[in-house]
Amino acid sequence: MKLTVVGTGYVGLVTGACFAEMGNDVLCVDVDEAKIKGLRRGELPIFEPGLKEIVARNVAAERLHFSTDIKEGVRFGTIQFIAVGTPPDEDGSADMRHVLAAARSIGQHMTDYKLVVNKSTVPVGTADAVREAIAQGQAARGVKVPYCVVSNPEFLKEGAAVEDFMRPDRIIVGADDERAVHLMQALYAPFQRNRDKLLIMDVRSAELTKYAANAMLATRISFMNELALLAEKLGADVDEVRRGIGSDPRISHHFLYAGCGYGGSCFPKDVKALLHSAEGVGEPLHVLHAVERANERQKQVLVDRIVERFGENLHGRRFALWGLAFKPDTDDLREAPSRVVIGKLLERGASVTAYDPAAMAEARRVFDGIERLDFASSANGALEGADALIIVTEWKAFRSPDFERMHALLRQPVIFDGRNLFDPLRMSEAGFEYVPIGRRTAPAVAAADLTRRAA
Ligand SMILES: NC(=O)c1ccc[n+]([C@@H]2O[C@H](COP(=O)([O-])OP(=O)(O)OC[C@H]3O[C@@H](n4cnc5c(N)ncnc54)[C@H](O)[C@@H]3O)[C@@H](O)[C@H]2O)c1
Repeated sequence: MKLTVVGTGYVGLVTGACFAEMGNDVLCVDVDEAKIKGLRRGELPIFEPGLKEIVARNVAAERLHFSTDIKEGVRFGTIQFIAVGTPPDEDGSADMRHVLAAARSIGQHMTDYKLVVNKSTVPVGTADAVREAIAQGQAARGVKVPYCVVSNPEFLKEGAAVEDFMRPDRIIVGADDERAVHLMQALYAPFQRNRDKLLIMDVRSAELTKYAANAMLATRISFMNELALLAEKLGADVDEVRRGIGSDPRISHHFLYAGCGYGGSCFPKDVKALLHSAEGVGEPLHVLHAVERANERQKQVLVDRIVERFGENLHGRRFALWGLAFKPDTDDLREAPSRVVIGKLLERGASVTAYDPAAMAEARRVFDGIERLDFASSANGALEGADALIIVTEWKAFRSPDFERMHALLRQPVIFDGRNLFDPLRMSEAGFEYVPIGRRTAPAVAAADLTRRAA
């Protein structure tokens, strides 16, 4: 099939590359000239495991092409994916400017039947608005060419995007047109050889499903984060509680890890957009409001603990920070908790030396010109002479470090662990003052251990 993907970011590039991998002819279009020039030179704008190889292979096979020419894009594919950004507007609603601009372009340039597939995360009712924008584009030219708009929200996870796209759990298609459904079935057939993963539903339900999924996941995280703070007050260990409840198949183990808050380009904005939509129709989502509030508080937890330990005034203190990306295996810093932690520490006069295995270039761009923030070229390099280490992202490379070396490098052996990477007892035995989230720390653990040994 001939496909055009409008918007070549995390979703658009992965979508384009994976469809090309299955033998389709794909043209990825973007308004960002630098991005397209880079892609034509073989440079990827994002870090995503496995993506570079797929892009290179399919460019070489001449199945994957890049362009900034939207007219060329519209003419190329029978199926037109819209995968542009939907960032939060000032009031929290999803900003639909890019989606509607893409739709208008399709209306302005199409000369034959198009199936327009919305992959961006968009509020319920957007398919109608896209349909209308295309109709306007055609009306301006005085033409009437057939087309259909369907919703196909994307569920890939950054860091595992290629794997998720190639082996999806489910493929949601919101459509009310038979021809469109047949095309979508044919397009996705290679991704579901062992079982049917296509869930076909009405367009509005498909649009809402995407927000519902992200809102549910954010809810689990905020619930565990609140439980972690409660566990500390009650002398319990949230990690034991996690194992205890996760083994119930009705609950499952996924997304039950307490930490220093969720971030990224999706959860915060999608929670906001869903809250906004719900308010708009007079059906407020009380649970989701609490989820958002809990997350705002959780992003402050690490800094609160640092202030408890080192005092309000952090002038003259230097902290090492491991992990800048909002989660491992990505270089995405959008809404990352590290940004809150760094901002608050700098505000209080501290200096920060940060390290991330993949996000250094992106961090240099995001934090350009910020004083008292510098970057180390290795995890241990950040520790030298620091008053404490703060762990913000759970990269695999941080999970089994050389504790002796860390102890020697740090000025004070203090670790604030926002991702609960280590065993509190082991940390205490290694001579660290270890501050995890919701876990029983050294004295409490030691007492429990003695009781166990005595028994
Ligand atoms: N990132 C994720 O993990 C993820 C997962 C599922 C769904 N989504 C959703 O997918 C959508 C895209 O997200 P993303 O992370 O890929 O965004 P992104 O910011 O990485 O990429 C969007 C791209 O669209 C381009 N663009 C904007 N307007 C355009 C236009 N009129 N024509 C052509 N290109 C245009 C931008 O230049 C940019 O390159 C969003 O709605 C997001 O919520 C994202």
